[in-house]
Parts: sequence; structure tokens; C-alpha cells
Amino acid sequence: MAMELSWQELEQHHKLISEGSIAELFNKDKNRFNKFSMRFEGILLDYSKNLIDETTIKLLLKLAAESNLSEWRERIFSGEKINHTEERAVLHTALRTPKTDKLIVDGENIIPQVHSVLEQMEGFVEKIHSGEWQGFSGKRITDIINIGIGGSDLGPRMVVNALHPWQSPNITSHFVSNLDGRELSDTLERVEPSTTLFLIASKTFTTLETMTNATTARNWFLQQSGSSEDAISNHFAAISTNIDECLKFGIARDSIFHFWDWVGGRYSLWSAIGLSIAVSLGMKQFRKLLAGAHAMDNHFREAPLAENMPLILALLGVWNRNFSTIESLAILPYESSLNLFPSYLQQLDMESNGKQVDRAGDSVKHQTSSLLWGESGSNGQHSFFQFLHQSQTRVAIDFIGTINPEHKLKGHHHKLTANMLAQSEALMGGRSIEQAQQGLATTDLPSSKQQLLAPYKTFPGNTPSNMLLLDRLDPYTLGSLIALYEHKVFAQGVIWNINSFDQMGVELGKELAKEVQYELESGNGARKNQHDDSTRNLINIFLERRVSRH
Ligand code: F6P
Repeated sequence: MAMELSWQELEQHHKLISEGSIAELFNKDKNRFNKFSMRFEGILLDYSKNLIDETTIKLLLKLAAESNLSEWRERIFSGEKINHTEERAVLHTALRTPKTDKLIVDGENIIPQVHSVLEQMEGFVEKIHSGEWQGFSGKRITDIINIGIGGSDLGPRMVVNALHPWQSPNITSHFVSNLDGRELSDTLERVEPSTTLFLIASKTFTTLETMTNATTARNWFLQQSGSSEDAISNHFAAISTNIDECLKFGIARDSIFHFWDWVGGRYSLWSAIGLSIAVSLGMKQFRKLLAGAHAMDNHFREAPLAENMPLILALLGVWNRNFSTIESLAILPYESSLNLFPSYLQQLDMESNGKQVDRAGDSVKHQTSSLLWGESGSNGQHSFFQFLHQSQTRVAIDFIGTINPEHKLKGHHHKLTANMLAQSEALMGGRSIEQAQQGLATTDLPSSKQQLLAPYKTFPGNTPSNMLLLDRLDPYTLGSLIALYEHKVFAQGVIWNINSFDQMGVELGKELAKEVQYELESGNGARKNQHDDSTRNLINIFLERRVSRH
């Protein structure tokens, strides 16, 4: 009830503040940057380019307090089963907790288990890097192929890509996720069976895409190498909660890396699912990634609400989504190493918070999540930025930039950063028709042409954006950045009163696909009284026109 009152207060406040613009707020308050920015270690968050003032933040913090945010924080960290639909604790934070800490879940301290898997990973990585781990013909491993999808792919793929300057020069990493055989086929063409190690990453070890790719990879390996099934143990490792299925697949017990049902798929890169990261970058860097995330965990857990970076980011998201009714959130890293960060965040945010029922099973009262998308800068400026500047659709933006790049080329980074800063300024400030006219008046164009062009050269502006400026994109800071967004997503779920940790919306399509798969593979076509007319016809046309049969 109290929460509903805060919600109404925020609605009323929004009516007032939206009579003006963000640019006007800057004109009124010369100290705006200091008021609406904060730092956590090597990460600066400037959120002053949002349509907010001190009252907005005060009311949003009141909303957070009334949503029992502080209590929920403690519930997640302490291992309470807050994923109530699946009756599971949500403890990805335990995966980055130091060895000396203690966390009792179901009567057992889970931290030693976490560290024992980290040590198993360390041993494995050392053997691969030192060449002690050999393929069937006695050669050392040069290529690893991570086969997984969703959380068993996006996080590790994004981290390995983002941290390529730290990659071991002796190992080439590949990632295969798609059911489309093209991805696996192209990858297999680039590797030698005798020097390749497959990491089969799947929490359940039943996921269609992963098991199809893993089975194909296994058959390819046996055929190409001409070796017996015994050689599988030198070339396949698995990461899963389902040990029985890994054993059935032929993976040696020592090469199975276990994790736990309290690690959600999209939160699993910190677990053994991150083995591809550890092999690519080395265990030392993997531990730095964990340390950076742990530092952000401590900040989220301990910092007062008003100084809490993940919470502030969450509240700004709620403000833009629910009160300014902006449906879309663009993630624009001006750092090409983070080019996979938007797709990683899509799963984190949209699979967590794209929900229609609340914790009581009732319809959610407010819109949840955003349509999240993005692309690294400055590429986007030459594709969709026209839309951001002049379409009728409003988009909120998170810009992410680095101060010190990892490359050594001169003449790039100032230009890149100038473009990021200028875009956020232009998107916020816009350009009025009078300004456009003044600009045109300085040209040689005839005045009729100036009049014609002026409306085309105006920009509405008022686009809200956050700026995350990283001192460097190193393993530690990337760990903190990912954890920042994880906690943001969790805090928003608390405010919307939803369970951010299940994903039942992925099920219906998968169930129907089984039926269609049977109809396609049997070659008999759509069964009578199944499907709508469109789907039935498409199934039959596919079969009629198909030439190849594999
Ligand atoms: O897309 C649904 C999902 O269950 C994700 O939540 C998960 O990350 C992905 O599939 C892969 O699941 P698994 O790791 O069990 O193969």
C-alpha cells in the first residue's frame, strides 16, 4: 500500500518535471554533475543526463525502501530460496566469495565446495597450458571449443572476447551455440581433432542445441581421429549439474566440473561454466574477474541505498521505463571489446525480468524490463543513430566507455571518446528550430532553401542516458561491471515484485518444436488437426521443396 503511494507520488512528480527538459535542468543547476554522479573503484557512473532532480531521487529511494530492498538484498546473499517457483536459492554471489568466508545453505557451508571446484579448474588449466594434457596422438591442446547456449555461452563468450589482450597466445578459443549446423561446421573446419578440446557446458545437460552440437562434435572427433571411444576422455570435458548425463556421454569423471542448482544459467559464468574463460585467460585472470565481482557484491550489500551504484542504476531504469514510459534501453559501449556485452545483457535482463506475473501469481501491476539492444560505437552512429536522434520513438541509453584502451594505436581513442561524449550531449540537448535557422543563416544557401531545411535539421533531444566510464577494461573491472548489471536486474525485480530467477517463457516454443520436428523428420508433414493453417502449410511446403535430406 505504502509502495502504491510512492508510485503515485512519482507519477505526479513526473508530470511536473516532464514539463521541462533535461537541458533546462542543467541550465538551472550548475552543480548537477556532482549531485548525480558516483564512483565505485575504477567505474564512474554519471547519471546527470536523466530527467531527474533531487526530488526524483528522494522519491525513488523511498520506493526502494518501501519495496524492502534492503531486506531482499540480505535474503539473496544469505541463500534464502527466493526463486520460489523453482524452490531454489540464488547464490551466484557465493561463487566469488573468498575461501575464508562461510555461507550455510541447507545446513552445509557451501564455500569450500565452491573453492574445491575452482582448484579443480586451476589444475585442469595448468595441465592444458603446460602441455601436460595431451590429445590422443600425444600433442598438446591448441584449440578449445565451448559448446553451450544461453547462459552457458553468452557470458563466457563475451568475457573472452572483451579480455582478448589477456588471452593465452597458445590457445585459440571458439564458441558454438547455435542449432544451425553452420556454426559448428565452420568451427570444425578450422581445427585439428588431435589438438582440440571440447568443453560441453550445460547446466541441465539436456538442452537441444547443446546436446545436438555435442553429439555431432563427438561423432566428428571419432571419425576424423580414427580413434576409439577411449580417446573421448582426452578431448571432451563437461560442466554441468547433471553428472549422470555427462558420464553417459562418455566424459571421464575427472573431467566433469560440477556446479549447483543455486546458480542460475544466466548467472553462471562465475562457476565452472567459466572454464573456457579460465583456459583462455589463465586462472589468475579468472580469479581477478571473480574479485572484481565480489567487490561490487560488497558495495551492493553494504552501501547505503543513496550511494549504491547498482540500486541507483535500477531506479533510473524504473523511472525511465515506468514513469517516462520509455520501452527501449540501448546499451552502447564505445569500446569494441564490449561488442558482445549488449547480447549478454539481453539474456541477463530480459530473461530475468520479462515477466507477466508477480510473486503472488497475479498480473504484474507495472511494465517490467525493457527491450534491450545495442551495438558498439562508433559503428552505430552510421546505422541506427538517425533513429535515436529524430524518430518518434524514445530510447534510454547506457553509454560505456574506457579512459585507457588496451591497444597502442595513436590517433583513435580521443576521437572515439569525443564521439561518445558528443553523442550523449547531442541526444540530451537536441537542437531547436531557431538554432537550426541560425546555423543555416551562416551558409550560402538561398533563404527559401534555408526555410525548407530548418525543420529537418532540428533535434528534439531530451534523450536520457547514463555514462559508465571505466578507467580500464581489465578482468577486475569487467567483473565489477557485470556484477553491477546483475544487481541492477535483481533490484528492479524486487521493485516490480517479480521472481527474476525463473524463465518459464522459454518453454512453450520448445514444446511445440518437438511436435514440428517429428513431422519434419518423419517426412510425413503436418498431422491432421495440428497447427494453425499458416504453420501447417509452411511445414508441408518445406518438405515438398526440400532437396537434401540430412
Ligand atoms: O533459454 C533457457 C535456458 O534455460 C537459459 O536460462 C539457459 O542459460 C540456457 O537455456 C541453457 O541451459 P543449459 O545450461 O541447461 O544448457
